[in-house]
Amino acid sequence: MAQTWTPNSWRQKPIQQVPDYPDLAALETVEARLAKYPPLVFAGEARRLKSALANVAEGRGFLLQGGDCAESFAEHGADTIRDFFRAFLQMAVVLTFGAQQPVVKVGRIAGQFAKPRSSSVEKQGDVTLPSYRGDIINGIEFTEEARLPNPERQIMAYRQSAATLNLLRAFAMGGYANLENVHQWMLGFVKDSPQAERYRKLADRISETMDFMKAIGITSENHPSLRETDFFTSHEALLLGYEQALTRVDSTSGDWYATSGHMIWIGDRTRQPDHAHVEYCRGIKNPIGLKCGPSMTADGLLELIDILNPANEAGRLTLICRFGHDKVAEHLPRLIRAVEREGKKVVWSCDPMHGNTITLNNYKTRPFERILSEVESFFQIHRAEGTHPGGIHIEMTGNDVTECTGGARALSGDDLADRYHTHCDPRLNADQALELAFLLAERMKGGRDEKKMVVNG
Ligand code: TRP
Ligand code: MN
Repeated sequence: MAQTWTPNSWRQKPIQQVPDYPDLAALETVEARLAKYPPLVFAGEARRLKSALANVAEGRGFLLQGGDCAESFAEHGADTIRDFFRAFLQMAVVLTFGAQQPVVKVGRIAGQFAKPRSSSVEKQGDVTLPSYRGDIINGIEFTEEARLPNPERQIMAYRQSAATLNLLRAFAMGGYANLENVHQWMLGFVKDSPQAERYRKLADRISETMDFMKAIGITSENHPSLRETDFFTSHEALLLGYEQALTRVDSTSGDWYATSGHMIWIGDRTRQPDHAHVEYCRGIKNPIGLKCGPSMTADGLLELIDILNPANEAGRLTLICRFGHDKVAEHLPRLIRAVEREGKKVVWSCDPMHGNTITLNNYKTRPFERILSEVESFFQIHRAEGTHPGGIHIEMTGNDVTECTGGARALSGDDLADRYHTHCDPRLNADQALELAFLLAERMKGGRDEKKMVVNG
């Protein structure tokens, strides 16, 4: 790996998951245009996220990362963004209380457009067309025209990301994220939930804490930190031509940064150590995520850690584990032990979505119980290994969709047809996402009580 890195050195490497653009000259023109557009995020923000993640790696924080599987051009509207943010912040409050630690808030949003596919073609009847690869590449409709990769879509994705990010920044800093608002929304959720009894205890304790703060004079007027929050963006860095066009030198440090989002991750299908995606990511200074599925070996992981984080900097690398509820116990401990043995600093995060996808009534879905079960096992395993369960990575929306089964409203396979809107994988709806936060917060508290008992014991 002594070879020099440049923003385009990935082009010399083998690469997976590349779209077949029919007109390469048009693609080049678009990339050249993008390279002149303003960055979407600043290097200083990515550094701030990295230092927040460094705290998580050291056991002093929790990462909440979530959003759509794939953002879509059709669903780009203020309401969708607001409703997502609203659900996400409520989760954050509940988890902050449960963990008694700061929650680092990272959306899968404002850039999450490109999708890896298991097959490059899709067959319907006797018609075979290129697979849908995300709105940044082609259209989801099953027509020849829509499925042809079109570089102009990169410009649209850039503009949508800029508009989304603009609204999110306004929400995060302009008063919408005020803790008092979020607390009221959360109480509304609890009141309407069929599991209200179960969640009320935790909700009441949060309310008491808020009342206590008010009583001693800590309010959002005199404490800006109560009305503002740090919110970061992330996406899979799959379409490397787009990423390269937005890779810029930071004038303060002279380092290269991806400016398409604060954090980017490498997918489980594109993590070959000598291939293009790893090559691109090793040279930029942003925090990086690495998806780890059942095929990740301990040695393979250590090799990737050395390439992606040679200085062993805390906060640089987040391992996003996605094994499946029935496989996590087999695979997670061996990876944790290898990382611990070598003294590598990482954030351990659990993606309980991608290993738990099944097909029911012709719909791809994910049972809520399996999602919860994978996260629970993730926590238990870390507790047993003496390591920090640093975060979760989920696919969710703020809307009332019917894509994952189960949850307090017990969505069944027959309900899936009602509001199945995802462009790709099934997402938790707003209620299911918040339920997950409540159930985890309960367990985090349980874990702390257990520890105290050992100490006082
Ligand atoms: N600034 C703190 C934080 O981000 C507190 C806070 C304000 C907050 N608004 C929030 C926490 C909304 C969670 C959700 O943690
Ligand atoms: Mn997905």
